[in-house]
Amino acid sequence: MVQNTFSTKGITKVYGEGRSAVHALRGVDLDIPQGEIVVLLGPSGSGKSTLLNIIGGLDRATDGDAYFRDQNLSGMTDKQLTMYRRDHVGFVFQFYNLMPSLTARENVELVTEIARDPMEPGEALAMVGLRERVDHFPAQLSGGEQQRVAIARAVAKNPTVLFCDEPTGALDSTTGRAVLNVLKDVNEKLGATVLIVTHAASQAAMADRVIHFADGDIREVVINKEKLTPEEINW
Ligand SMILES: Nc1ncnc2c1ncn2[C@@H]1O[C@H](COP(=O)(O)OP(=O)(O)O)[C@@H](O)[C@H]1O
Ligand SMILES: [Mg+2]
Repeated sequence: MVQNTFSTKGITKVYGEGRSAVHALRGVDLDIPQGEIVVLLGPSGSGKSTLLNIIGGLDRATDGDAYFRDQNLSGMTDKQLTMYRRDHVGFVFQFYNLMPSLTARENVELVTEIARDPMEPGEALAMVGLRERVDHFPAQLSGGEQQRVAIARAVAKNPTVLFCDEPTGALDSTTGRAVLNVLKDVNEKLGATVLIVTHAASQAAMADRVIHFADGDIREVVINKEKLTPEEINW
C-alpha cells in the first residue's frame, strides 16, 4: 500500500470571531499519497491557501488533525513545526519572493546552508534549466526565470513535498508551461509529492489526483487515469 504523505481529519479554520468570523475550512478530510502530483482546484476565496498553509506547517488549524506521515502537526510546538518545514517542505508562491540583492545561486544557498541533505545549488539551478544564469540577479531574469529560481530554491533541500500556491498565476501560457514542466520533473526525478494550488481548471489534466474545492471543503476527488503533459494542456 502506498503511504500517505498527508491525511487530515476534520480540519476547520476560523479567522476572527463573533459576527465577523470567517469560516475558511469546514471539516476537511483529505488523503494525499506519497509521490503524486496533486492539483487542489477551486475558486478564489474557497480556502485553498489556508489548507496548504496548515499542512505546510505555516499556520495552525482551529480544530481537527493534520498528519504528515504518522506525525500530527496539530500537536507540534512551534519549534517542531519549524523543523518539519525545514526538513521536509518546499514552498513556491505566485510572486517568487526572491531576495533582489542576491544572485540566483545565492538565493538558493539561503536554503542549502541550513538544510539537512541539500543538493548543490548549481545542480538545483541546472535542473530548472538555469545553469547559465546562476550569477544573475532577479532583476536580470524574466518572470518565468525568477519562478524557476524559486523552484530551484525550494527543491534544493530535497523536500519530501513541494507546495506550490498559484505558481503560474503571474505568468503567460508559454512560461507557465515551462514552470509546470519543471514541477513535473521534480516529481519524477526526486520523487517529491507535488501539491499545486490553482483556480485554473486546465491544470488539473497534468495531475494524478484532482481535489475539487469549494466553500471551505472538498467537493470531489478525481483520479486521472491518464495525465497530459504541460505542453498538451489547453491553457
Ligand atoms: N488572515 C486572514 N484573516 C481573515 N480572513 C482570512 C485570512 N486569510 C484568509 N482569509 C479568508 O478565508 C477565506 C479563504 O481564503 P484563502 O484560503 O486565501 O482562499 P483561496 O486560497 O482559495 O483563494 C477567504 O474568505 C479569505 O478572505
Ligand atoms: Mg489562495
